[in-house]
Amino acid sequence: MRKNIVAGNWKMNKTLQEGIELAKELNQILSTETPHCDVIICTPFIHLASVTPLVDAAKIGVGAENCADKESGAYTGEVSAAMVKSTGAQYVILGHSERRAYYHETIETLAEKVKLALANGLKVIFCIGEVLEEREANRQNEVVAAQLASVFSLTAQDFANIILAYEPVWAIGTGKTATPEQAQEMHAYIRSLIAKNYGNEVAEDTSILYGGSCKPSNAKELFANPDVDGGLIGGAALKAADFKGIIDAFN
Ligand code: 13P
Repeated sequence: MRKNIVAGNWKMNKTLQEGIELAKELNQILSTETPHCDVIICTPFIHLASVTPLVDAAKIGVGAENCADKESGAYTGEVSAAMVKSTGAQYVILGHSERRAYYHETIETLAEKVKLALANGLKVIFCIGEVLEEREANRQNEVVAAQLASVFSLTAQDFANIILAYEPVWAIGTGKTATPEQAQEMHAYIRSLIAKNYGNEVAEDTSILYGGSCKPSNAKELFANPDVDGGLIGGAALKAADFKGIIDAFN
């Protein structure tokens, strides 16, 4: 059975002190109840080692937002998957559209990153999604199918450690959420591609999250769809109460 997951992506927000405060606050809010989904917070690299020991690991998983496509060595400014893992983090977001667009990450680079992340025992939240022009040209399916190439060469055993996040780029940070119908249609399509590549059982076991202007007010109707297994949350993950509001969509 696949898991329902609400994951936060803090992006490039919060100083170390602010991040620690947010993690503590969320941990406190969740201390008195058991969420009806897995909860993950993905933070900038510098927060990881401080945040992981602060949160109850039974309720909140911690992840990075990126890792290097090389194992180690002379790559100034990069952070390896092994380094991420050594902080106690268990997850890493890879393939986010902001990384693809601003840092020119390709399908091939991402395949390397995914391989290294998995080899180092991290679970990968792998993001896919089309830009507005592609949606307007009705090319979203082919775009998403092509992006999945970075993970579709994995063995089924490795693919079990992949969580997918469908994030239509036109919905990220724009306040323009995909309709529940648009999300369901794409998620069902993605699941059909997984089934074609790995078989029905693997497809049924894969969590597919929706991301893009997801908030407490629309999370419930998005997550109510049979193929939407939760959300990857940007802006609304920066306030504990908003993030909790989205977690509560599973209650
Ligand atoms: P917003 O929730 O701010 O639209 O961001 C979504 C996102 O990019 C999560 O990775």
